[in-house]
Amino acid sequence: MEHQEHIIERYERAWIFFGLAMIAVFIILIAYMMMTMGNTNPVSTGRIDPTKVRTEGVFANPRVEQIGDEYVAYIQAFSFGYLPNEMRFKVGRKVTFYITAPDVQHGFQVEHTNINVQVIPGEIAKVSYTFSRPGEYRIICNEYCGIGHANMISKLVVEP
Ligand code: CUA
Repeated sequence: MEHQEHIIERYERAWIFFGLAMIAVFIILIAYMMMTMGNTNPVSTGRIDPTKVRTEGVFANPRVEQIGDEYVAYIQAFSFGYLPNEMRFKVGRKVTFYITAPDVQHGFQVEHTNINVQVIPGEIAKVSYTFSRPGEYRIICNEYCGIGHANMISKLVVEP
């Protein structure tokens, strides 16, 4: 009898532990998602007339600006490439990308990061990222955009 009670108690304790462990895993997962997605979740920050992207405003002069310790990059994704076609950043500095398209929908994915933006003509997408490792990062388009889609590749360089 006593022996049986012990078994039941152990069984209950195992279940309570399991329940608590699941709750802990859940909390950790949510915290992790918030941490990793938090600053790289692209947001639309405004609209621009897509027919004027190439001629007016900051996107007519795609560039990287350094402001203090941070960078701001204004990027045009077009059929079939990106402007500026080369970007350089110092490792460990925050980079804020503003991206739009003058023609059709494109993608802006930076390999080996969680930057993955859908670029819609006339929508200004914003995404921030801090590169923690130097090297070359490929930029690829992952929205089908026409005959040159597969060749719509660029790169950025993170310097030590
Ligand atoms: Cu641009 Cu696919």
